[in-house]
Amino acid sequence: MAEVPVIAIDGPSGSGKGTVAAEIARRLGLRVLDSGALYRLAAFAARRAGVPLDDADGVARIAAGLPVEFRDGRVLLDGEDVTLAIRTETAGNDASKVAVLPQVRQALLQWQRDQARPPGLVADGRDMGTVVFPDAPVKIFLDASAGERARRRHKQLMEQGVDVKLSDLVAEIEARDARDRNRSVAPLKPAPDALVIDSTGMSVDEVVEKILQAAQPSVFSG
Ligand code: C5P
Repeated sequence: MAEVPVIAIDGPSGSGKGTVAAEIARRLGLRVLDSGALYRLAAFAARRAGVPLDDADGVARIAAGLPVEFRDGRVLLDGEDVTLAIRTETAGNDASKVAVLPQVRQALLQWQRDQARPPGLVADGRDMGTVVFPDAPVKIFLDASAGERARRRHKQLMEQGVDVKLSDLVAEIEARDARDRNRSVAPLKPAPDALVIDSTGMSVDEVVEKILQAAQPSVFSG
């Protein structure tokens, strides 16, 4: 693996990982890996191809050959802009179903590691610090209460014009978290050497500052 700085940020859905990772990457001039998008794309492409989401080998074959491109904040699948299509709650749930399959995780592993290229990477997901980048010098586990995470997601969806009931979101977030935390492969949990941050009641800026402080000695040395 290339010796470039990697900041691994893991945590449950709605903990603010994506927003925080993008802001840290912007401030430090690093690349970003949104690993959740890969699981969303694998499930999305499988559905399109008529492959059942519990067909481990079928979904893994699709995951291994995903014609994906991340360009200017957009996600392109075989040239088609699927940025919004993979952001729905259904796409998130589908993603967490294929994410329990070891073959699918294996199929996506090398592509993720290959993103650790100069000038360095901020990687967000569920197993960045535990499995994909176990040697990352900075590991963060970003958490928040389920209620707060559902409220943030609700606000985001309302801003996008999507009308959902908060109580439905809480139930969905809790179900997805339970699947992510309890699966046998790469379950969502903090790496032993991760800094755990509970962002309940914290602003994005406060979380970013805290992570930058933690990253200071390793990412800015030399
Ligand atoms: O982060 P995001 O909500 O986009 O992730 C969608 C789903 O993909 C998660 O609920 C999780 O099941 C799966 N995932 C994963 N490992 C990652 C990133 C996402 O299992 N590194």
